[in-house]
Amino acid sequence: MTIPTTTKTTPPAMDEALAKFQAENPDFAAGLADRRATDYGRLDRLGHVYLDYTGGGLYAQSQLQAHLDLLNNNVFGNPHSNNPTSLAMTELVEQARAYVLKYFNASPDEYVAIFTLNASGALKLVGESYPFTADSHYLLTFDNHNSVNGIREFAHARGANVTYLPVVPPDLRVDENKLAEHLAQADPHQNNLFAYPAQSNFSGVQHPLDWIAPAQARGWDVLLDAAAFTPTNRLDLSRWQPDFVTLSFYKIFGYPTGVGCLLARKSALAKLHRPWFAGGTITIASVQGTNYQLEEGAAAFEDGTVSYLLLPAVEIGLRHIESIGLDTIHRRVAALTGWLLENLLALRHDNDEPLIRVYGPTDTDCRGGTIALNFYDPHSQLIDFQRVEALANQQNISLRTGCFCNPGAGEVAHGLTEVEMTTCFTDKERMTFHQFLTCLQSVDGKNAGSIRISVGVASNFADVFRFVQFARGFLNKSAAEV
Ligand SMILES: Cc1ncc(COP(=O)(O)O)c(C=O)c1O
Repeated sequence: MTIPTTTKTTPPAMDEALAKFQAENPDFAAGLADRRATDYGRLDRLGHVYLDYTGGGLYAQSQLQAHLDLLNNNVFGNPHSNNPTSLAMTELVEQARAYVLKYFNASPDEYVAIFTLNASGALKLVGESYPFTADSHYLLTFDNHNSVNGIREFAHARGANVTYLPVVPPDLRVDENKLAEHLAQADPHQNNLFAYPAQSNFSGVQHPLDWIAPAQARGWDVLLDAAAFTPTNRLDLSRWQPDFVTLSFYKIFGYPTGVGCLLARKSALAKLHRPWFAGGTITIASVQGTNYQLEEGAAAFEDGTVSYLLLPAVEIGLRHIESIGLDTIHRRVAALTGWLLENLLALRHDNDEPLIRVYGPTDTDCRGGTIALNFYDPHSQLIDFQRVEALANQQNISLRTGCFCNPGAGEVAHGLTEVEMTTCFTDKERMTFHQFLTCLQSVDGKNAGSIRISVGVASNFADVFRFVQFARGFLNKSAAEV
């Protein structure tokens, strides 16, 4: 099937729709319109509609230029030495570290910034070092990313109790009474870890940051996965003080990839026991004696040589976001998300059946710019999301399909039961996602995948308009026809 650009239900012209949108969001144009043409000009030059900001943010041309200028005009060496090129690099690495703390308003007396490969690397540092015992609890929401789910393997290995807190359809938020019950169950004298995403990378739900202090008061260390939240929301660590915060910088400003961060409260960091040591993490180690002494603070957690040439680009990226204004980005993303939700949900086949089902909140209250959805035909038959992706690809629209490394939210959204999941897991030793989908289909005719669109720093009205136009092309088509 080719998706036509015009359909029986004629869409309002882009200019007309834009005028209405701007009238409803008067400060939308502020700050970013010209950046789209300059810093992010490659999007329109190459004709891309980028709707996968939750997968990865986009970098500005000026970020690349600033980083390239720095590299071209200096000589930098490995920061582990004491020579001039090394010392120059050490200074910039420490400057970047200090800037990260400042960006998140984290007092250096309270927090340490540890550079990692990515958010998953930061999560693994916590998981492998957290002092779980048989008396500990690991509590986590259903809608965590797999890199947070994976910590359960460390918890299980040490005999800790692992509990998942469900998210509840249709909004995919947590029942706060249930949360309070679970928090009350742990022994506050043991080591207990509670992990949740500040924003779900599946549904866009933003869980309350005011869960943090009460959980801590009941004897829990709180791990806030901020990877999907920080690109478009302010995380003020002078106001909210989770014990651990994990994130990837490319999600915020696109470049560089390969650098993430664990922001850890010093008191919580002191609890962690590293399972090994490496170059850079020790003051001294002996071969003939079996001893070693760990460095203090961040250095004890940064294995080997940090990606030192890239770390100044983190400061450049954060300054870039500040130059636009995080609040400006937040407002624009909220406005575009609201427009998308309203206009996608309004799409109906001629028999009045809805084209789109959204998994998660359908308004902009306490949610970010990530929307999980599926297309349905006039007979409520699911339209294969991989087929939708293939058709989007033909129009240079970048979206994401699958389960987004967030199986729990998907299981709830698609009404999948424990029995169905277990049945399909025992089917084969190693399964691909596609085999898993086929199994679910054969067991119960169910689906486990969705389409995800997400907006971010460089998104404009034309991007979201183009996606709604694309969606209109599916109206009144049967799933088989598509
Ligand atoms: C909420 C959330 N947590 C963690 C991660 C893992 O990030 P990374 O793949 O950069 O390690 C992601 C990535 O999509 C995410 O969205």
